[in-house]
Amino acid sequence: MRHLLSIEELDREAIERIVDQAARFAEVSEREIKKVPTLRGRMVVNLFYEASTRTRGSFELAAKRLSADVVNFSAEGSSVEKGESLKDTILTLSAHKPDAIVVRAPWAGAAQLVSRWTSAAVINAGDGKHEHPTQALLDIYTLKRALGRIEDLSIWIVGDITHSRVARSNVIAFQTMGANVTVCGPPTLIPRDIETLGCRVSYSLDELPEADVVYALRMQRERIADSPLPSLREYASIYQINERRLGTRQILMHPGPVNRGVELSGGIVDSPQAVITAQVEAGVVVRMAVLYELLSGVRAPEPQPQPQLA
Ligand code: CP
Repeated sequence: MRHLLSIEELDREAIERIVDQAARFAEVSEREIKKVPTLRGRMVVNLFYEASTRTRGSFELAAKRLSADVVNFSAEGSSVEKGESLKDTILTLSAHKPDAIVVRAPWAGAAQLVSRWTSAAVINAGDGKHEHPTQALLDIYTLKRALGRIEDLSIWIVGDITHSRVARSNVIAFQTMGANVTVCGPPTLIPRDIETLGCRVSYSLDELPEADVVYALRMQRERIADSPLPSLREYASIYQINERRLGTRQILMHPGPVNRGVELSGGIVDSPQAVITAQVEAGVVVRMAVLYELLSGVRAPEPQPQPQLA
């Protein structure tokens, strides 16, 4: 594996390999000194054009726990503010010979483009409405820890499917692992062609009790330009996951950040069924496993020797 741009690149065996490696790294996180020398001398660049708490923090921790050097860039405070393009930013950062570039950007396909401009391994940390493959991997890791399996589970992904990169990656990943996935939300927030991914569509929560796992999504107010909903209050009255709608045997997941009182009631976020904190915890070990998968044993091509001046 050269890059991780989309979850579609991973078959079931590859997902299981990464999740199993993450489980081995979990032991490192329990140690007093949470570090192994696996990626000593390697450099990981985190390039974030969008806000992030969980993904950015966990990639940084993951690289540091593997003893890699980490350099963080955000659009804010960098030459992007002076108009530098994505391509020129990548060419500039690549001059430092990073081994991996972790990129989050508001544009679908950004990570794919970055992979054309650098010899570093590129990891998609979220590209617009397209994909968030490491979120899907950490969710699989979390569910396997919580329930022991993914095969044959009924997983309902509820909320703003249209604007969610997590929905797309997770529908693909959960189904690759053998789960039955239903996406649920208002018709204006479900893409017309979503069934082509193999999932079922529901516009109501009437059959939610059949779900083993309820995966709620954030209402992405920053990506909703065309007001597809009358109001968040109306959304919450029909689709909010709360104490009345979630059964005691059901597991609740959410990628974060949560809008308490919108897609989830405040009480349900803090309930024993919620594994939201476990998802955050999984982020570090799963991203360690992804860095290990991409970087252990493989070095970026050496630069070509420069011609000598006479
Ligand atoms: N789940 C997720 O991607 O969260 P952040 O935006 O905080 O990274």
